Amino acid sequence: DLEAFDISEKLGFLLEEPLTNLPDHYGVWMDLANNLTHLIETRKLRDLVDKMPVLMPDILSTNRELRLAHLVLGFISMGYVWQEGRQAPAQILPKAVALPYWLVSSRLGLPPILTYADSVLANWKLKDPDGDMQIGNLDLIFSFPGGESCRGFFLVSLLVEMAASSGIVVRNGKLSPSEFNQFTHCAFYNGREIRITEFVLFLDHVDPTVFHGTLRIFVSGWRDNPMLPRGLLYDGVSNEPILLSGGSAAQSSAIQCFDGLLSIEHEDETRTFVTRMRDYMPPAHRQLIETLSDCPSLRHFILYNSSIDLCQAYNSCVSALVDLRSYHLNTVTKYIIVPGNRAVGSPLRGVGTMLNTTGSGGSNFVVFLKSVRNSTQKSLISKE
Ligand code: HEM
Ligand code: ALA
Repeated sequence: DLEAFDISEKLGFLLEEPLTNLPDHYGVWMDLANNLTHLIETRKLRDLVDKMPVLMPDILSTNRELRLAHLVLGFISMGYVWQEGRQAPAQILPKAVALPYWLVSSRLGLPPILTYADSVLANWKLKDPDGDMQIGNLDLIFSFPGGESCRGFFLVSLLVEMAASSGIVVRNGKLSPSEFNQFTHCAFYNGREIRITEFVLFLDHVDPTVFHGTLRIFVSGWRDNPMLPRGLLYDGVSNEPILLSGGSAAQSSAIQCFDGLLSIEHEDETRTFVTRMRDYMPPAHRQLIETLSDCPSLRHFILYNSSIDLCQAYNSCVSALVDLRSYHLNTVTKYIIVPGNRAVGSPLRGVGTMLNTTGSGGSNFVVFLKSVRNSTQKSLISKE
């Protein structure tokens, strides 16, 4: 039941036709978010937020309104915290943002920080409404500094997500009625559908120096982050600072669904991190991953019961994920490790060397990403 899991038949986990405007009452928020890049670059955002009235989110009612409000307040919060760069992050989020953000977040079951579900899944619009969803016809609703590289960073992630979504097809559990009658529905993933082709677009659209030196800080959070080691205080909400991870595609539900479907299991801390990232997903999406992970293991079934054909189909799916994860490791080298090494000794902008070994989601990423790739590889079935 796609609807119960809040999944679109066409777009998977992407939010269909996201709203781009809130009721007039929230005009102040919209003005800030629509001019965010300019206000950050001219260092005016913090002052404007400090003067902002506290608006309660009571007038918001539909899910799409709440998702837009979460996105808007997320962009404003990231801009507010990181406007002055890594040396002077804000320690306190003012009540005018913190309180409505907290309330909107609890209604959505999302944490009060900019997530992948905001910046990628709900942050897109079509230039020509009758045109296709391809990169030339897509635009972001809100941006951080970084120009075309910011646009490319979020939109290429969106294209990868869209390509992955075509792999999530719901079928009536026909895979093997005798063994799988527990499944009311069995979602099945077709390995060829995960397209590295989309990922390759990164190189054309995202410049590593701009990503690392300008954009990356704005998706950074306040958990496992040396720039804000104690977290962020949400004024009017709590007396203690709160620790929350920054935005990361590790919060993508699509990839975790594939792991669940293919019964790929990660080890120890890796598993803990991946599982924690589910707290940053919309609850219905999280629920799908949990439902899939609770199903009897497809891998065991294929390993012990089934035909060579099914075994090959399974392996081609797993190989596609191994390839994606290997390709991703290369991307991380180009976009974090190389520019990070160049930033040694540079007092300039961005994260500098602060996040050289830690991802925006807070993982020790080299160890983490290799472990995820290796456990995927280990799932391949070799049959005589
Ligand atoms: C995880 C970096 C683009 C999918 C991660 C992590 C890092 C990272 C550092 C570790 C988790 C964390 O602490 O944040 C990057 C960089 C990118 C990029 C530098 C481009 C500039 C993408 C794209 C996708 C993606 C386009 C596809 C949607 C994932 C996934 C994980 C992850 C699924 C979780 C690990 C896994 O399941 O394999 N990424 N990423 N990343 N990233 Fe990326
Ligand atoms: N997760 C990516 C990073 O760590 C965005 O930079």
